[in-house]
Amino acid sequence: MPQHKLQVEAIAHGTVIDHIPAGMGIRILKFFQLSNQDHPITVGLNLRSKHQGKKDIIKVEDTVFDVTQANQLALFAKDATINVIDDYEVVEKYRVTLPDAIDSVLACPNSNCISNEEPVNTKFHIGESASGVILKCHYCEKSFNQRLFTELN
Ligand code: CTP
Ligand code: ZN
Repeated sequence: MPQHKLQVEAIAHGTVIDHIPAGMGIRILKFFQLSNQDHPITVGLNLRSKHQGKKDIIKVEDTVFDVTQANQLALFAKDATINVIDDYEVVEKYRVTLPDAIDSVLACPNSNCISNEEPVNTKFHIGESASGVILKCHYCEKSFNQRLFTELN
C-alpha cells in the first residue's frame, strides 16, 4: 500500500466524526456547541471522499461521545461514522443511527407550545417521511421537518 497523508492530521485520543455531508460540518459544530469546550478541535471541509464526493470531518480531542449524543448527529449526518481514537489507533467505529426521540436539546418552533412557556425538558419523536426526517413535538404534537432545526441561523 502506498503511504498517504491524512487530509486532516491524526489525533492521539478522542473522537473523529467522519463522512459528514459537505456543508453540515459547520452546522454540527455550531448546533452542538462543540467549540465551547476546552478541547482542541480540527475540522476539514469539502474534503474528497471515496464514497461521497465531498465530505466534512470533525476531530474532537480528548472527548468520547456517548451513543445518545452521537446518534443526535444523525439529524445532520445520517451516514456519519464515529471513530473513537486511543493512542492514535481506531479502537471503536460505528455508524450513527437516527434515534426514536430526542430529549432536551431542541426547542419547539411552535411559539404557542407549552414547552416554550414552562420549564420542561423538550422531547421530539422522530419519524421519516418522503420529504425527510420529521420531528413531532411531544407537547404540542406538531410536526416539523428536520431542516427547520439544522438550518444555520
Ligand atoms: N483518524 C484520526 N486519527 C487517528 C486515526 C484515525 O484522525 N489517530 C481518522 C482518519 O483520518 C479517518 C477516521 O479517523 O478519517 C477513521 O480512520 P480509519 O478507520 O483508519 O479510516 P478509514 O478506513 O478510511 O475509515 P472508513 O472505512 O470508516 O472510511
Ligand atoms: Zn411543541
